[in-house]
Amino acid sequence: MGLSWNKMQSNYNSRYYNHRDYVRGLNNYGVTCCINALLQSFSATPELLELLDKYNPAQTEPNDVPMELKNTLCAMRKEQKHHSPHRNFLDCLHRHSIHRYIQHDADEIFHSILNLTQKQMTDKDLAEEIRKLYEIKVETQVMCKECGHIQKTPNSLYSLPLAIREGDNTLESCVQSYIQQQPLRSGNECYCDWCMKKQPTTHQLKLVSLPSVLCIHLKRFRNYGTTRKLHNRVTFPETLHMNTFNGQSENAKEYYSLYAVIVHIGSAFSGHYTAYIRHSLDQKWFYADDSNVQQATWEHVQETYKGGKTAYLLLYRKMSENASG
Ligand SMILES: *[C@@H]1O[C@H](CO)[C@@H](O)[C@H](O)[C@H]1NC(C)=O
Ligand SMILES: [Zn+2]
Repeated sequence: MGLSWNKMQSNYNSRYYNHRDYVRGLNNYGVTCCINALLQSFSATPELLELLDKYNPAQTEPNDVPMELKNTLCAMRKEQKHHSPHRNFLDCLHRHSIHRYIQHDADEIFHSILNLTQKQMTDKDLAEEIRKLYEIKVETQVMCKECGHIQKTPNSLYSLPLAIREGDNTLESCVQSYIQQQPLRSGNECYCDWCMKKQPTTHQLKLVSLPSVLCIHLKRFRNYGTTRKLHNRVTFPETLHMNTFNGQSENAKEYYSLYAVIVHIGSAFSGHYTAYIRHSLDQKWFYADDSNVQQATWEHVQETYKGGKTAYLLLYRKMSENASG
């Protein structure tokens, strides 16, 4: 994209937000809080709205997820007061086995929506642009400790899955451990193509490229036979400097600005999702708890560092270089 964020922003605002300080609440139709929270974050992503606006196929299959998403996000921008612009979208997901009345995992639903969009969108160029908007390219590097040969396996992700350690974490420390070199334990050796036998290896993940919209998944649910939620503290900044992590350090100025937080409240068994979103017009934070929307502050957002009400997905937007100053 050639446009700087600031320039894009002024174009978007007039088109997408008629109403200053207005964020639409969404009714909960039977444990749909997870989808509601995600819709709030999509709605706060004008880059996605702009792409979906171009999606005008002559014909769509029934239950076309990208079309229903587009219609819902459109309806959320209108000034009407009702809180049910997403009923068709919920029905559509239901028919794709994302059922109501079932507790979902926000990261999984985020992936399902993007996967279904990729699969169903008839306009493949547009689908590609949506994929690129979120796509994180990583590379697994397995190095043979005997000969130094490195085997690289590329992979692409829609969210960066970060493990949380006991005690206090910072987002930066979580990213650091994600990309840290890890020796494989003995008995866990890998076959080296050059040595032509199994050798001890080290294992490392590299961030190859980061998208304009970076979704970070704090892995708070861990399976120990039964699923447990980690309530540990994870601090995260409003402005994240990713350039230190992907080896391009000095020159590539990759500054990211936080604009949405999907919050999980409660335990692994009985939970509720809400969202903090930052309005792109005046940068004010809002808190959306289904149909209830309130203005919020950065201090409120920071309360999700730990405890019962915890940040689960963080959405960062890449800032243009001149805005990063
Ligand atoms: C989304 O697609 C990827 C790649 O095909 C797959 O690995 C992943 O399991 C899918 N996730 C969901 C939730 O559908
Ligand atoms: Zn080797």
